[in-house]
Amino acid sequence: MDRFKIEGGRRLEGTVRISGSKNASLPAMAAALLTSEPVCLQNIPGVRDIITMAKLLAHMRARVESPDLPPSEFTIAAETISHAEAPYELVKTMRASILTLGPLVGRFGFARVSLPGGCAIGARPVDLHIQALEKMGAKISIHHGYVEARCERLRGAQIHFDKITVTGTENILTAAVLAEGETVLTNAAREPEVTDLIELLIKMGAKIEGRGTSTLHVHGVDKLHGATHAVIPDRIEAGTFIVAAAITGGDVKLTHCAPQHLTAVIETLAACGVEIQKEGVSCLRVRAPKALRAADITTEEYPGFATDMQAQFMALATQAEGKSEITETIFENRFMHAQEMIRMGANIAIDGHRAVVQGPTPLSGATVIASDLRASASLVLAGLVASNTTYIDRIYHLDRGYEKIEEKLQDLGASIERI
Ligand code: UD1
Repeated sequence: MDRFKIEGGRRLEGTVRISGSKNASLPAMAAALLTSEPVCLQNIPGVRDIITMAKLLAHMRARVESPDLPPSEFTIAAETISHAEAPYELVKTMRASILTLGPLVGRFGFARVSLPGGCAIGARPVDLHIQALEKMGAKISIHHGYVEARCERLRGAQIHFDKITVTGTENILTAAVLAEGETVLTNAAREPEVTDLIELLIKMGAKIEGRGTSTLHVHGVDKLHGATHAVIPDRIEAGTFIVAAAITGGDVKLTHCAPQHLTAVIETLAACGVEIQKEGVSCLRVRAPKALRAADITTEEYPGFATDMQAQFMALATQAEGKSEITETIFENRFMHAQEMIRMGANIAIDGHRAVVQGPTPLSGATVIASDLRASASLVLAGLVASNTTYIDRIYHLDRGYEKIEEKLQDLGASIERI
Protein backbone atom coordinates (compact mmCIF):
# COMPACT_ATOMS: atom_id res chain seq x y z
CA MET A 1 0.00 0.00 0.00
CA ASP A 2 1.30 3.46 -0.91
CA ARG A 3 2.49 5.84 1.81
CA PHE A 4 4.09 9.27 1.84
CA LYS A 5 7.53 10.03 3.19
CA ILE A 6 7.98 13.70 4.04
CA GLU A 7 11.13 15.47 5.20
CA GLY A 8 9.82 18.58 6.93
CA GLY A 9 11.27 22.04 7.23
CA ARG A 10 11.33 23.22 3.59
CA ARG A 11 9.89 26.63 2.71
CA LEU A 12 7.39 26.43 -0.18
CA GLU A 13 7.92 28.82 -3.07
CA GLY A 14 6.64 29.03 -6.63
CA THR A 15 3.41 28.59 -8.55
CA VAL A 16 0.75 25.89 -8.29
CA ARG A 17 -2.14 25.28 -10.67
CA ILE A 18 -5.42 24.47 -8.93
CA SER A 19 -7.44 21.59 -10.43
CA GLY A 20 -11.16 21.41 -11.14
CA SER A 21 -13.47 20.75 -8.22
CA LYS A 22 -14.09 17.12 -7.31
CA ASN A 23 -17.31 17.99 -5.48
CA ALA A 24 -18.62 19.94 -8.49
CA SER A 25 -17.57 17.27 -11.02
CA LEU A 26 -19.40 14.40 -9.26
CA PRO A 27 -22.95 15.87 -9.44
CA ALA A 28 -22.22 17.16 -12.96
CA MET A 29 -21.31 13.63 -14.10
CA ALA A 30 -24.46 12.21 -12.47
CA ALA A 31 -26.53 14.94 -14.17
CA ALA A 32 -25.43 13.60 -17.56
CA LEU A 33 -27.86 10.71 -16.86
CA LEU A 34 -30.72 13.20 -17.37
CA THR A 35 -30.43 13.32 -21.17
CA SER A 36 -29.93 10.95 -24.09
CA GLU A 37 -27.58 13.50 -25.70
CA PRO A 38 -23.84 13.75 -24.92
CA VAL A 39 -22.74 15.99 -22.06
CA CYS A 40 -19.13 17.18 -22.24
CA LEU A 41 -17.51 18.11 -18.93
CA GLN A 42 -14.18 19.92 -18.78
CA ASN A 43 -11.70 20.81 -16.01
CA ILE A 44 -12.35 17.45 -14.32
CA PRO A 45 -9.67 16.59 -11.71
CA GLY A 46 -7.70 13.35 -12.14
CA VAL A 47 -8.68 11.83 -8.79
CA ARG A 48 -9.99 8.43 -7.69
CA ASP A 49 -13.58 9.53 -6.90
CA ILE A 50 -13.99 10.72 -10.48
CA ILE A 51 -12.86 7.33 -11.79
CA THR A 52 -15.34 5.67 -9.40
CA MET A 53 -18.18 7.83 -10.73
CA ALA A 54 -17.13 7.05 -14.33
CA LYS A 55 -17.19 3.32 -13.48
CA LEU A 56 -20.62 3.71 -11.92
CA LEU A 57 -22.03 5.41 -15.02
CA ALA A 58 -20.41 2.78 -17.25
CA HIS A 59 -21.98 0.06 -15.05
CA MET A 60 -25.36 1.64 -15.90
CA ARG A 61 -24.37 1.31 -19.60
CA ALA A 62 -23.80 5.03 -20.19
CA ARG A 63 -20.95 5.71 -22.62
CA VAL A 64 -18.14 7.49 -20.81
CA GLU A 65 -15.29 8.71 -23.01
CA SER A 66 -12.21 10.76 -22.35
CA PRO A 67 -9.52 11.98 -24.79
CA ASP A 68 -6.76 11.81 -22.16
CA LEU A 69 -5.50 9.76 -19.26
CA PRO A 70 -5.89 10.57 -16.43
CA PRO A 71 -9.05 12.21 -17.73
CA SER A 72 -9.46 15.99 -17.54
CA GLU A 73 -12.51 15.90 -19.79
CA PHE A 74 -15.39 13.45 -20.15
CA THR A 75 -18.11 13.04 -22.70
CA ILE A 76 -20.96 11.10 -21.16
CA ALA A 77 -23.78 9.78 -23.32
CA ALA A 78 -26.66 8.07 -21.53
CA GLU A 79 -28.89 7.18 -24.51
CA THR A 80 -30.37 4.24 -22.70
CA ILE A 81 -29.69 2.87 -19.28
CA SER A 82 -30.09 -0.84 -18.73
CA HIS A 83 -28.95 -1.01 -15.10
CA ALA A 84 -30.42 1.87 -13.09
CA GLU A 85 -28.40 0.63 -10.17
CA ALA A 86 -25.47 1.80 -8.02
CA PRO A 87 -23.97 -1.39 -6.54
CA TYR A 88 -22.55 -1.66 -3.03
CA GLU A 89 -19.02 -2.39 -4.34
CA LEU A 90 -18.81 1.13 -5.79
CA VAL A 91 -20.94 3.00 -3.21
CA LYS A 92 -18.83 1.71 -0.31
CA THR A 93 -15.76 3.42 -1.80
CA MET A 94 -17.61 6.66 -2.54
CA ARG A 95 -20.67 7.99 -0.69
CA ALA A 96 -21.31 10.51 -3.48
CA SER A 97 -22.64 7.59 -5.60
CA ILE A 98 -25.98 8.52 -3.99
CA LEU A 99 -25.97 11.47 -6.46
CA THR A 100 -27.22 9.10 -9.18
CA LEU A 101 -30.51 8.53 -7.32
CA GLY A 102 -32.17 11.84 -8.30
CA PRO A 103 -31.31 11.79 -12.04
CA LEU A 104 -32.26 8.10 -12.42
CA VAL A 105 -35.69 8.44 -10.80
CA GLY A 106 -36.26 11.75 -12.57
CA ARG A 107 -35.61 10.37 -16.06
CA PHE A 108 -36.36 6.64 -15.86
CA GLY A 109 -38.82 6.41 -12.95
CA PHE A 110 -36.68 3.76 -11.27
CA ALA A 111 -33.44 3.57 -9.31
CA ARG A 112 -31.75 1.10 -7.03
CA VAL A 113 -28.85 2.59 -5.08
CA SER A 114 -26.92 0.99 -2.26
CA LEU A 115 -27.17 2.93 1.00
CA PRO A 116 -23.78 4.46 1.87
CA GLY A 117 -23.80 3.60 5.60
CA GLY A 118 -21.50 5.28 8.13
CA CYS A 119 -18.05 6.66 7.50
CA ALA A 120 -15.08 7.87 9.49
CA ILE A 121 -16.47 11.35 10.06
CA GLY A 122 -19.92 10.38 11.32
CA ALA A 123 -23.25 8.72 10.56
CA ARG A 124 -24.04 10.84 7.45
CA PRO A 125 -27.57 9.64 6.74
CA VAL A 126 -29.48 10.28 3.49
CA ASP A 127 -32.93 10.53 5.10
CA LEU A 128 -33.51 14.05 3.75
CA HIS A 129 -32.87 12.91 0.16
CA ILE A 130 -35.38 10.08 0.60
CA GLN A 131 -38.09 12.17 2.30
CA ALA A 132 -37.91 14.76 -0.48
CA LEU A 133 -38.26 12.14 -3.24
CA GLU A 134 -41.25 10.64 -1.40
CA LYS A 135 -42.86 14.08 -1.30
CA MET A 136 -42.40 14.23 -5.07
CA GLY A 137 -44.38 11.00 -5.46
CA ALA A 138 -41.64 8.33 -5.51
CA LYS A 139 -42.41 5.04 -3.77
CA ILE A 140 -39.36 4.19 -1.75
CA SER A 141 -38.45 0.86 -0.22
CA ILE A 142 -35.31 -0.29 1.49
CA HIS A 143 -34.22 -3.92 1.04
CA HIS A 144 -30.91 -5.65 1.58
CA GLY A 145 -29.09 -2.35 2.11
CA TYR A 146 -30.42 -0.82 -1.11
CA VAL A 147 -32.84 2.06 -1.52
CA GLU A 148 -35.27 1.46 -4.38
CA ALA A 149 -37.29 4.33 -5.79
CA ARG A 150 -40.15 4.02 -8.30
CA CYS A 151 -42.66 6.37 -9.85
CA GLU A 152 -44.48 7.14 -13.10
CA ARG A 153 -43.24 10.71 -13.26
CA LEU A 154 -42.13 12.76 -10.29
CA ARG A 155 -44.40 15.66 -9.33
CA GLY A 156 -43.21 19.09 -8.26
CA ALA A 157 -43.48 19.71 -4.52
CA GLN A 158 -42.56 22.11 -1.72
CA ILE A 159 -39.40 20.72 -0.17
CA HIS A 160 -38.01 22.23 3.00
CA PHE A 161 -34.69 20.79 4.16
CA ASP A 162 -34.65 20.65 7.97
CA LYS A 163 -30.88 20.64 7.76
CA ILE A 164 -28.76 22.11 4.97
CA THR A 165 -27.42 19.27 2.84
CA VAL A 166 -25.13 19.69 -0.17
CA THR A 167 -25.62 16.36 -1.96
CA GLY A 168 -29.27 16.33 -0.80
CA THR A 169 -29.89 19.66 -2.56
CA GLU A 170 -28.04 18.38 -5.66
CA ASN A 171 -29.98 15.11 -5.73
CA ILE A 172 -33.37 16.79 -5.45
CA LEU A 173 -32.47 19.46 -8.02
CA THR A 174 -31.55 16.78 -10.54
CA ALA A 175 -34.79 14.92 -9.74
CA ALA A 176 -36.93 18.06 -10.03
CA VAL A 177 -35.72 19.30 -13.43
CA LEU A 178 -37.74 16.59 -15.24
CA ALA A 179 -40.67 16.48 -12.77
CA GLU A 180 -44.18 17.60 -13.63
CA GLY A 181 -44.81 21.15 -12.39
CA GLU A 182 -42.89 23.34 -10.00
CA THR A 183 -40.61 22.26 -7.15
CA VAL A 184 -39.61 24.81 -4.55
CA LEU A 185 -36.57 23.98 -2.41
CA THR A 186 -36.16 25.99 0.78
CA ASN A 187 -33.16 25.98 3.12
CA ALA A 188 -31.21 24.62 0.14
CA ALA A 189 -27.39 24.49 0.20
CA ARG A 190 -25.70 27.54 -1.36
CA GLU A 191 -22.27 25.96 -1.88
CA PRO A 192 -20.54 27.01 -5.14
CA GLU A 193 -20.70 23.35 -6.25
CA VAL A 194 -24.53 23.53 -6.10
CA THR A 195 -24.53 26.77 -8.10
CA ASP A 196 -22.19 25.20 -10.67
CA LEU A 197 -24.57 22.25 -11.04
CA ILE A 198 -27.45 24.69 -11.59
CA GLU A 199 -25.45 26.39 -14.36
CA LEU A 200 -24.90 23.05 -16.09
CA LEU A 201 -28.59 22.09 -15.74
CA ILE A 202 -29.66 25.45 -17.23
CA LYS A 203 -27.30 24.83 -20.18
CA MET A 204 -29.07 21.48 -20.61
CA GLY A 205 -32.45 23.25 -20.85
CA ALA A 206 -33.60 23.17 -17.21
CA LYS A 207 -35.64 26.05 -15.78
CA ILE A 208 -34.27 27.02 -12.38
CA GLU A 209 -34.49 30.33 -10.54
CA GLY A 210 -32.68 31.48 -7.41
CA ARG A 211 -29.17 30.18 -8.01
CA GLY A 212 -26.79 31.15 -5.23
CA THR A 213 -29.68 31.55 -2.76
CA SER A 214 -31.32 29.14 -0.32
CA THR A 215 -34.67 29.15 -2.16
CA LEU A 216 -34.68 27.46 -5.55
CA HIS A 217 -37.63 27.33 -7.93
CA VAL A 218 -37.48 24.52 -10.48
CA HIS A 219 -40.02 24.39 -13.30
CA GLY A 220 -39.99 20.84 -14.63
CA VAL A 221 -39.47 20.32 -18.37
CA ASP A 222 -40.22 17.24 -20.52
CA LYS A 223 -36.73 16.78 -21.85
CA LEU A 224 -33.16 18.01 -21.42
CA HIS A 225 -30.44 18.18 -24.06
CA GLY A 226 -26.64 17.88 -24.25
CA ALA A 227 -24.25 20.64 -23.16
CA THR A 228 -20.59 21.50 -22.63
CA HIS A 229 -19.49 22.76 -19.25
CA ALA A 230 -16.19 23.48 -17.48
CA VAL A 231 -16.51 22.83 -13.75
CA ILE A 232 -15.33 25.41 -11.20
CA PRO A 233 -11.89 25.27 -9.55
CA ASP A 234 -11.51 23.22 -6.38
CA ARG A 235 -11.81 25.65 -3.45
CA ILE A 236 -10.70 23.04 -0.91
CA GLU A 237 -7.54 22.17 -2.85
CA ALA A 238 -6.85 25.92 -3.13
CA GLY A 239 -7.43 26.38 0.61
CA THR A 240 -5.07 23.47 1.35
CA PHE A 241 -2.27 25.08 -0.70
CA ILE A 242 -2.91 28.46 0.96
CA VAL A 243 -2.32 26.77 4.33
CA ALA A 244 0.73 24.91 2.95
CA ALA A 245 2.30 28.23 1.95
CA ALA A 246 1.37 29.89 5.25
CA ILE A 247 2.57 27.08 7.51
CA THR A 248 5.99 26.72 5.82
CA GLY A 249 6.84 30.44 5.86
CA GLY A 250 6.35 30.36 2.10
CA ASP A 251 5.53 32.57 -0.86
CA VAL A 252 3.23 30.76 -3.30
CA LYS A 253 1.09 31.83 -6.24
CA LEU A 254 -2.10 29.87 -6.93
CA THR A 255 -3.37 29.99 -10.51
CA HIS A 256 -6.70 28.80 -12.02
CA CYS A 257 -8.51 29.24 -8.68
CA ALA A 258 -11.72 31.08 -7.77
CA PRO A 259 -10.85 33.65 -5.05
CA GLN A 260 -14.55 34.59 -4.69
CA HIS A 261 -15.24 31.10 -3.25
CA LEU A 262 -12.47 31.42 -0.67
CA THR A 263 -13.61 34.47 1.31
CA ALA A 264 -13.93 32.72 4.70
CA VAL A 265 -10.51 31.05 4.39
CA ILE A 266 -8.83 34.26 3.19
CA GLU A 267 -10.36 36.30 6.05
CA THR A 268 -9.34 33.73 8.67
CA LEU A 269 -5.79 33.44 7.41
CA ALA A 270 -5.51 37.22 7.20
CA ALA A 271 -6.40 37.26 10.92
CA CYS A 272 -3.46 34.86 11.41
CA GLY A 273 -1.20 37.41 9.72
CA VAL A 274 -0.98 35.74 6.29
CA GLU A 275 -0.87 38.16 3.36
CA ILE A 276 -3.16 37.00 0.55
CA GLN A 277 -3.40 39.15 -2.55
CA LYS A 278 -5.70 38.72 -5.50
CA GLU A 279 -3.91 38.93 -8.83
CA GLY A 280 -6.34 39.14 -11.75
CA VAL A 281 -9.54 37.10 -11.57
CA SER A 282 -8.10 33.66 -10.94
CA CYS A 283 -4.77 34.02 -9.10
CA LEU A 284 -3.84 34.46 -5.48
CA ARG A 285 -0.43 35.22 -4.02
CA VAL A 286 0.07 33.91 -0.49
CA ARG A 287 2.91 35.23 1.68
CA ALA A 288 3.50 33.90 5.16
CA PRO A 289 4.24 36.27 8.04
CA LYS A 290 7.34 35.96 10.24
CA ALA A 291 5.08 34.54 12.98
CA LEU A 292 1.55 33.18 12.60
CA ARG A 293 -1.11 34.37 15.07
CA ALA A 294 -3.88 32.17 16.53
CA ALA A 295 -7.49 32.58 15.33
CA ASP A 296 -10.84 30.95 16.12
CA ILE A 297 -13.03 29.23 13.56
CA THR A 298 -16.50 27.68 13.53
CA THR A 299 -17.33 25.47 10.57
CA GLU A 300 -20.54 26.42 8.82
CA GLU A 301 -22.36 25.94 5.57
CA TYR A 302 -21.25 28.20 2.70
CA PRO A 303 -20.38 31.07 2.80
CA GLY A 304 -19.05 30.17 6.28
CA PHE A 305 -15.76 28.39 6.99
CA ALA A 306 -15.97 24.97 5.26
CA THR A 307 -15.80 21.80 7.36
CA ASP A 308 -13.57 20.43 4.58
CA MET A 309 -10.91 23.02 5.60
CA GLN A 310 -11.13 22.43 9.37
CA ALA A 311 -8.38 19.79 9.61
CA GLN A 312 -5.96 21.84 7.51
CA PHE A 313 -6.62 24.89 9.70
CA MET A 314 -5.86 22.80 12.78
CA ALA A 315 -2.41 21.98 11.35
CA LEU A 316 -1.81 25.71 10.90
CA ALA A 317 -3.07 26.48 14.43
CA THR A 318 -0.37 24.20 15.90
CA GLN A 319 2.20 26.67 14.50
CA ALA A 320 0.38 29.89 15.46
CA GLU A 321 1.17 32.00 18.50
CA GLY A 322 -1.65 31.73 21.09
CA LYS A 323 -4.87 29.78 21.57
CA SER A 324 -7.04 28.84 18.58
CA GLU A 325 -10.54 27.53 19.21
CA ILE A 326 -12.02 25.29 16.52
CA THR A 327 -15.73 24.46 16.64
CA GLU A 328 -17.04 21.79 14.26
CA THR A 329 -20.80 22.12 13.66
CA ILE A 330 -21.34 20.04 10.49
CA PHE A 331 -20.06 16.55 11.34
CA GLU A 332 -20.04 14.88 14.75
CA ASN A 333 -16.76 12.98 14.53
CA ARG A 334 -14.33 15.09 12.62
CA PHE A 335 -11.33 15.53 14.93
CA MET A 336 -9.57 12.21 14.24
CA HIS A 337 -6.54 14.06 12.82
CA ALA A 338 -6.06 15.80 16.20
CA GLN A 339 -4.90 12.56 17.84
CA GLU A 340 -2.25 12.10 15.17
CA MET A 341 -1.09 15.73 15.48
CA ILE A 342 -0.83 15.27 19.27
CA ARG A 343 1.46 12.29 18.61
CA MET A 344 3.62 14.65 16.57
CA GLY A 345 3.86 17.08 19.50
CA ALA A 346 0.82 19.37 19.11
CA ASN A 347 -0.99 20.72 22.16
CA ILE A 348 -4.68 20.09 21.39
CA ALA A 349 -7.54 19.53 23.84
CA ILE A 350 -10.81 18.13 22.49
CA ASP A 351 -14.13 18.69 24.20
CA GLY A 352 -17.02 17.36 22.11
CA HIS A 353 -17.42 19.59 19.08
CA ARG A 354 -14.67 21.97 20.22
CA ALA A 355 -10.90 21.70 19.92
CA VAL A 356 -8.51 24.11 21.60
CA VAL A 357 -5.07 24.33 20.04
CA GLN A 358 -2.28 26.03 21.96
CA GLY A 359 0.62 27.06 19.78
CA PRO A 360 3.19 27.26 18.59
CA THR A 361 4.58 23.80 19.32
CA PRO A 362 7.42 22.21 17.37
CA LEU A 363 6.19 19.06 15.61
CA SER A 364 8.40 16.02 15.22
CA GLY A 365 8.14 13.49 12.43
CA ALA A 366 6.24 10.26 13.18
CA THR A 367 4.34 7.53 11.38
CA VAL A 368 0.70 8.62 11.24
CA ILE A 369 -2.49 7.19 9.79
CA ALA A 370 -4.98 9.17 7.78
CA SER A 371 -8.64 8.53 8.60
CA ASP A 372 -10.36 10.47 5.81
CA LEU A 373 -9.63 12.70 2.86
CA ARG A 374 -9.19 16.07 4.57
CA ALA A 375 -7.57 14.56 7.67
CA SER A 376 -4.91 13.12 5.36
CA ALA A 377 -4.29 16.56 3.87
CA SER A 378 -3.85 18.04 7.35
CA LEU A 379 -1.26 15.38 8.22
CA VAL A 380 0.69 16.20 5.05
CA LEU A 381 0.67 19.85 6.17
CA ALA A 382 1.86 18.86 9.65
CA GLY A 383 4.60 16.73 8.04
CA LEU A 384 5.79 19.72 5.99
CA VAL A 385 6.73 21.60 9.18
CA ALA A 386 7.75 18.66 11.37
CA SER A 387 11.39 17.92 12.11
CA ASN A 388 12.87 14.79 10.52
CA THR A 389 10.75 12.27 8.67
CA THR A 390 6.97 11.81 8.68
CA TYR A 391 5.38 8.72 7.13
CA ILE A 392 1.68 8.93 6.26
CA ASP A 393 -0.16 5.65 5.81
CA ARG A 394 -3.45 5.01 3.98
CA ILE A 395 -2.89 7.77 1.45
CA TYR A 396 -5.57 6.25 -0.76
CA HIS A 397 -7.82 8.74 1.04
CA LEU A 398 -5.76 11.58 -0.47
CA ASP A 399 -5.87 10.02 -3.93
CA ARG A 400 -9.68 10.16 -3.74
CA GLY A 401 -9.67 13.95 -3.81
CA TYR A 402 -6.29 15.59 -4.49
CA GLU A 403 -4.81 15.52 -7.97
CA LYS A 404 -1.05 14.76 -7.91
CA ILE A 405 -0.65 16.38 -4.51
CA GLU A 406 2.93 15.14 -4.04
CA GLU A 407 4.02 16.40 -7.49
CA LYS A 408 2.47 19.81 -6.87
CA LEU A 409 4.19 20.04 -3.47
CA GLN A 410 7.53 18.85 -4.93
CA ASP A 411 7.32 21.61 -7.56
CA LEU A 412 7.01 24.10 -4.70
CA GLY A 413 10.13 22.71 -3.05
CA ALA A 414 8.71 20.21 -0.56
CA SER A 415 10.50 16.95 0.11
CA ILE A 416 7.66 14.44 -0.25
CA GLU A 417 7.68 11.10 -2.01
CA ARG A 418 5.27 8.24 -2.56
CA ILE A 419 6.78 4.95 -1.46
C1 UD1 B 1 -20.81 17.32 1.00
C2 UD1 B 1 -19.40 17.23 0.47
C3 UD1 B 1 -18.41 17.05 1.63
C4 UD1 B 1 -18.62 18.17 2.66
C5 UD1 B 1 -20.08 18.28 3.07
C6 UD1 B 1 -20.36 19.47 3.97
C7 UD1 B 1 -19.67 16.22 -1.73
C8 UD1 B 1 -19.50 15.02 -2.58
N1 UD1 B 1 -19.32 16.09 -0.44
O1 UD1 B 1 -21.08 16.08 1.66
O2 UD1 B 1 -17.09 17.12 1.10
O3 UD1 B 1 -17.85 17.87 3.82
O4 UD1 B 1 -20.92 18.40 1.91
O5 UD1 B 1 -19.98 20.65 3.33
O6 UD1 B 1 -20.06 17.26 -2.20
N2 UD1 B 1 -27.53 15.10 6.83
C9 UD1 B 1 -28.62 14.46 7.38
N3 UD1 B 1 -29.51 13.85 6.54
C10 UD1 B 1 -29.35 13.85 5.17
C11 UD1 B 1 -28.24 14.50 4.63
C12 UD1 B 1 -27.33 15.12 5.48
O7 UD1 B 1 -28.80 14.44 8.59
O8 UD1 B 1 -30.19 13.27 4.46
C13 UD1 B 1 -26.54 15.76 7.73
C14 UD1 B 1 -25.15 15.10 7.66
O9 UD1 B 1 -25.05 13.99 8.51
C15 UD1 B 1 -24.25 16.26 8.09
C16 UD1 B 1 -24.97 17.49 7.50
O10 UD1 B 1 -26.31 17.08 7.26
O11 UD1 B 1 -24.23 16.37 9.50
C17 UD1 B 1 -24.37 18.02 6.21
O12 UD1 B 1 -24.18 16.95 5.32
P1 UD1 B 1 -24.23 17.11 3.74
O13 UD1 B 1 -24.21 18.56 3.36
O14 UD1 B 1 -25.33 16.28 3.20
O15 UD1 B 1 -22.84 16.46 3.33
P2 UD1 B 1 -22.59 15.68 1.99
O16 UD1 B 1 -23.48 16.25 0.95
O17 UD1 B 1 -22.60 14.22 2.25
